[in-house]
Amino acid sequence: MTYLAFLVELLFVAVGVFFILALRGLSSASTSHRGNMYGAAGMLIVISFPLLSCIFWSGSQAPGFHYLLTLLAISAGGGIGYRIAKCTAMTDLPQLIAAFHSLVGLAAVCIAVSVYLAPNLHKISVGNDGLIPFANAIEMSVGATIGALTFTGSVVAFGKLHGLIRRALIFRGQHKINLLLGIVILLLIGLFSSYQSACVFTILLILACLIGYLLIMPIGGADMPVIVSMLNSYSGWTAAGIGFTLNNTLLIIVGALVGTSGAILSSIMCRGMNRSLFNVIIGGVGTSSGAQQSDTSQRRDVKVCSAEDAAYIIQNAGSVIIVPGYGMAVSQAQHIIREMADALKKRDITVKYAIHPVAGRMPGHMNVLLAEANIPYEEVYELDDINHEFSNTDVALVIGANDITNPAAKTDKTSPIYGMPVLDVEKAKTVLFIKRSLGAGYAGIDNPLFCYGNTMLVLGDAKKVSESILKEMQSDH
Ligand code: TAP
Repeated sequence: MTYLAFLVELLFVAVGVFFILALRGLSSASTSHRGNMYGAAGMLIVISFPLLSCIFWSGSQAPGFHYLLTLLAISAGGGIGYRIAKCTAMTDLPQLIAAFHSLVGLAAVCIAVSVYLAPNLHKISVGNDGLIPFANAIEMSVGATIGALTFTGSVVAFGKLHGLIRRALIFRGQHKINLLLGIVILLLIGLFSSYQSACVFTILLILACLIGYLLIMPIGGADMPVIVSMLNSYSGWTAAGIGFTLNNTLLIIVGALVGTSGAILSSIMCRGMNRSLFNVIIGGVGTSSGAQQSDTSQRRDVKVCSAEDAAYIIQNAGSVIIVPGYGMAVSQAQHIIREMADALKKRDITVKYAIHPVAGRMPGHMNVLLAEANIPYEEVYELDDINHEFSNTDVALVIGANDITNPAAKTDKTSPIYGMPVLDVEKAKTVLFIKRSLGAGYAGIDNPLFCYGNTMLVLGDAKKVSESILKEMQSDH
């Protein structure tokens, strides 16, 4: 091994360590900033590779031209990434992630096609028969298949999360067709690896795109977060597969890290929703996507109160548990909620925050927002750690949350979210909802809790209502 090759392998290991430290840091809100920095440092080394390789390894092939092309590609990618990061609202992050996954899938397909067309360019020596070695062909076709599947699946996930695709595609015999397609794809991978026909490769890619579409189209409602994380995992395995083809240790390490962390996250989310991963991937369950309207026949039982009433109720409580949800993220009410909590604490009222694992629209969504508003970590509790406390609490203040409090998940076997663990807010003496209407949440189903005797609603935008409540509290003081 030459000195330079040894240095490269060493840098690959360093990048792997940086990414492992990044994942470790991102697992808790208090260390997430450090984790992000480790990730950025690893990425910096990664993007410096193409530039270094132009200087040291391009040999006689016009290094100046390669250098310029690489620099252009990095600047264009970096510029677009910077612009997207600046313009994307926090609530649109899940669809952005889905869009990025689609690019990983597409990149894998492009690399596989490039390897197929010009194996020598990728330092893959072809045999006397002109074919790529069988093992390389298997890795390449598996990587390309997962890449194509990830591409179309992620595009569909983007469309669903962005509200462009509103209907789930469900038809009879769907699972059988998917199974059949899966078997045909496996046969084609074997066929292609043996004979490497362009026609077989093209059909393989088309069928992989089709199965990605068919697998994600029936999925909707409460299962979407798991799917985004599964697609994340697929994109990792795609990178690892292509890494084997290109004999690139870094791609293998990073791909495996992304693949396993995505799979573990999906499994944690499934446990949070009491669903089996297999059941989610197969799809067709929990398919409503927010379009279903609330049952108006129940509305007459709902008690609506003013901001003044709400201020009176929470000021006279001994303990308050705040339950944030998607609506808090939309209205960006986290800062005013912290001010409200500070005012309550000054009156010796105990304030805690209850976070549901799938509150909002992405994993850790609420944790990020509460951290942004400098809410102390020790006041923030996960579902399992706080659920037993609602029965000893005076007020559960639910801000822009809906599905995560829906008792139908515990009682109604026909409900699409049946079995999903929910926050037991109804056990508090009073439940105060802040939301704009009696409209449904993401899963598109009624929340019978609105009609419970101990529930009151303050209707309006979460930020505006919270500001009014705070104003009332301050004027009372
Ligand atoms: P949802 O059930 O979606 O409820 C949010 C509620 O916020 C809505 O009912 C809406 O009612 C209200 N709202 C919207 N804008 C508002 C505003 N400006 N001010 C006040 N209220 C506002 O949210 P959740 O309780 O957080 O549950 C999350 C749901 O999303 C679950 O079904 C989960 O499976 C799904 N999901 C989660 C993720 C992840 S990973 N977290 C990803 C995708 C999907 P009004 O219209 O009446 O105001």
